[in-house]
Amino acid sequence: MEKILLKNIDKPGSHKLDNYVRNGGYKAFAEALKLKPDNIIQMVKDSGLRGRGGAGFSTGLKWSFIPKDPTIPKYLCCNADEGEPGTYKDRAIIDNDPHLLLEGMMLTCYAIGAANAYIYIRGEFVFGANRLDEAIKEAYAKGYLGKNILGSGFNLDMHIHRGFGAYICGEETALLESIEGYRAQPRKKPPFPALAGLYGKPTVINNVETLACIPAIIEKGPKWFSSIGPEKSPGPKIYGVSGHVKKPGLYELPMGTTLRDLIFNHCGGMLREDRALKAVIPGGVSAPLLTPKDLDTPLDFDSLAAKGSMLGSGAVIVMDESTCMVKAAFITNRFFSHESCGKCTPCRDGTPWLTKVLKRLEHGEGRPGDIDLIESLCGNIFGRTFCPLGDGAVMALRGALKNFREEFQYHIDHKKCMAS
Ligand SMILES: Cc1cc2nc3c(=O)[nH]c(=O)nc-3n(C[C@H](O)[C@H](O)[C@H](O)COP(=O)(O)O)c2cc1C
Ligand code: SF4
Repeated sequence: MEKILLKNIDKPGSHKLDNYVRNGGYKAFAEALKLKPDNIIQMVKDSGLRGRGGAGFSTGLKWSFIPKDPTIPKYLCCNADEGEPGTYKDRAIIDNDPHLLLEGMMLTCYAIGAANAYIYIRGEFVFGANRLDEAIKEAYAKGYLGKNILGSGFNLDMHIHRGFGAYICGEETALLESIEGYRAQPRKKPPFPALAGLYGKPTVINNVETLACIPAIIEKGPKWFSSIGPEKSPGPKIYGVSGHVKKPGLYELPMGTTLRDLIFNHCGGMLREDRALKAVIPGGVSAPLLTPKDLDTPLDFDSLAAKGSMLGSGAVIVMDESTCMVKAAFITNRFFSHESCGKCTPCRDGTPWLTKVLKRLEHGEGRPGDIDLIESLCGNIFGRTFCPLGDGAVMALRGALKNFREEFQYHIDHKKCMAS
């Protein structure tokens, strides 16, 4: 497949505006300014693009919820928090092709009638924030941002907001709280951000990769985009692979590429050929793991949901047979309990309790009733939390227990691990 999202990242000086323009950049934006904003929304709807931040919601539909009244201020917030363990795709675009993101944001703002856009970038991404800062300055200097852009009468200002290194800042309403200067904790929904978002005004929140798809949709047309990958989850997808493969890295492939193709063709197979594949987390650590019997599953939103997992951010973590699943579950759960924002009791109290039980199992101090206790705790968290973080913690753990229950039992019975 022709690369769309990562096409520039290896070119020298790919972050500079002149090079971006030389490679065809900002053409889609200049053309779009001659169209009606509603036409852009329709094109994005027709393309079938679904959000790449995790939930897979239709991007065009999300934009269409923004009220049309021109007297109401509207905002776009780009979610560049990228805190999901294993996920490092957005950073590649930000660091190496920041104008692709800016062009996607400009098109979005024009479509929804926003005169101000924010990029909420993870605090640790200092290099990326500086790159974006330079790119925004270049865009103002060349007239792609500011007043009366390219003589169209459209005005747009862009701002960078650096985050604070907490995973919850990536949850869209916590992100809004954080930009407004409050502690990053999720808001009650409804009202949804499309009606009452940043500063109480209609707001679209989109992921970096989602926004980076927009210029190609406008330039090449929605039909071209929807012809890539499965009908219900079309387009290119950046899979970020890590773990026990020969060639970990970012792979831009058609959505719906199978796990087998990704691991054994693109990534060169298992890191050590004498060690068999044991499990794969297909979409960031909240996604329930898959096992070798699932190798022919297409990596797209619907196929993974049908397997009881999810595409999430597209972060694929591969584990070979030497991996202790109890240890993996402990480490994953420790992350969630550390990142719990504390707003609701089931997650605030339940995730550290789970971590405590998993830690004693991992350390050979498990007790006979511990698996039942884990299941009971999961039942008291799942579906009872204020935001999806608590559910994510449970889904990951239940996936490990469902497929590797005997390993958990072995840790209790033998006070050691069966994998090593
Ligand atoms: C705990 C948590 C963390 C999240 N972190 C991110 C993130 O780092 N980046 C992101 O784009 N979406 C993240 N999301 C999803 C966002 O809430 C939101 O759905 C997404 O930004 C919407 O963009 P999209 O429609 O383009 O996918 C997170 C959600 C939760 C519950
Ligand atoms: S589920 Fe966890 S992260 Fe989400 S609001 Fe509750 S305490 Fe905070």
